[in-house]
Amino acid sequence: MHQLYPFVFSFLLVQTAIASSQLQPGFYSQTCPEAELIVRQVMRRAMIREPRSAASVMRLQFHDCFVNGCDASLLLDDTPYMDGEKQALSNINSLRSFEVIDEVKEAVESACPGAVSCADILIMAARDAVVLGGGPNWEVKLGRKDSLTASLEDSNRIMPSPRANASYLIELFNSYNLSITDLVALSGSHSIGKGRCFSIVFRLYNQSGTGHPDLNMDPVYREMLDRLCPLGGDGNVTGALDATPRLFDNQYFKDLVNERGFLNSDQTLYSGNDQTRKVVQHFSRNQEDFFSAFVEGMVKLGDLQSGQAGEIRKNCREVNKPTPGHFVI
Ligand code: HEM
Ligand SMILES: *[C@@H]1O[C@H](CO)[C@@H](O)[C@H](O)[C@H]1NC(C)=O
Ligand SMILES: *[C@@H]1O[C@H](CO)[C@@H](O)[C@H](O)[C@H]1NC(C)=O
Ligand SMILES: *[C@@H]1O[C@H](CO)[C@@H](O)[C@H](O)[C@H]1NC(C)=O
Ligand SMILES: *[C@@H]1O[C@H](CO)[C@@H](O)[C@H](O)[C@H]1NC(C)=O
Repeated sequence: MHQLYPFVFSFLLVQTAIASSQLQPGFYSQTCPEAELIVRQVMRRAMIREPRSAASVMRLQFHDCFVNGCDASLLLDDTPYMDGEKQALSNINSLRSFEVIDEVKEAVESACPGAVSCADILIMAARDAVVLGGGPNWEVKLGRKDSLTASLEDSNRIMPSPRANASYLIELFNSYNLSITDLVALSGSHSIGKGRCFSIVFRLYNQSGTGHPDLNMDPVYREMLDRLCPLGGDGNVTGALDATPRLFDNQYFKDLVNERGFLNSDQTLYSGNDQTRKVVQHFSRNQEDFFSAFVEGMVKLGDLQSGQAGEIRKNCREVNKPTPGHFVI
């Protein structure tokens, strides 16, 4: 009889691990009913202080979820023993507004200590950034755990370059079971925010090593970008990703149709591939369809999970200190 106990115990643990990976709306309705309200309030304050923070926070969901699932690995600072993802090629000198996530976490922690994961906070904050920018609202699934580690190498290997072409992006998104429509809709997140000259100088002056600019660019728009980003200029200067960078709308797709895409990875969706072009054209004419496809894409993106053990971090920037007698499921 006694010998059965260890077996029963480990069986229960396995059940718990499976149950905890089941994401659902209202996951915190008992443990932190005000969580979503608090996130929304802090996001609203952050956007009043700095409108761009909406875009910067929303981008974090993409960079977190593509690298070993939505587990807040992106938020971990480097330690002497671990190179985090913040220094990765696509992230360094580029990702921003981590302090907004800290502020949300502090507010949520003071209402409900130890209850809400940083991974879920990212998902809620990204949704709120879209809503507060004039985009669609949707119900988010919650119940994620925070990772115990991060991977600089995985981020470097996975995250796409602004030089990427449409066929590469289709393949990449397909490897996450994200469709062509998902790719185009999610790229519509570039309806808000800014990018650096560093990300576009190659297409202004030497597209694919040709010594010439990208041909798929409206000449008036190119003159504007040439002035913003002269050859040999400051790579950290920023330009708007679409003509209405504070408003979450379908202007981004209208811009692509007019060859006024900022990044090569944006313009290629219209100019470089027949399948993505059709979707771009459709979204440029129908904002409602863009919004519903975007929501579907964000939910799928938020469903990506690593299957690794996790915890609810106290501070989003570091894993919890081990407490004797306690172990993580
Ligand atoms: C399809 C592949 C994608 C590529 C190649 C890409 C690349 C980039 C690049 C290069 C920038 C500008 C960074 C800089 O110059 O510092 C940027 C900005 C941004 N990206 Fe993406 N991105 C992609 C998809 C996404 C997705 C799926 C989302 C969100 C769901 C997203 C959200 C954003 C936002 C909101 C910004 C503006 C951030 C800010 O103003 O701080 N991107 N992206
Ligand atoms: C797209 O990019 C990939 C990877 O950089 C490259 O191998 C491929 O030839 C490119 N495809 C087209 C159609 O330019
Ligand atoms: C994609 O779908 C296949 C088949 O359903 C599944 O085996 C695979 O794990 C999925 N991949 C991801 C990254 O979700
Ligand atoms: C353009 O890029 C190619 C390939 O990287 C390089 O060989 C060439 O020198 C560059 N041309 C200019 C004008 O920078
Ligand atoms: C941008 O600024 C950072 C920090 O000041 C600096 O380290 C980096 O080299 C700059 N990047 C570019 C592309 O100029």
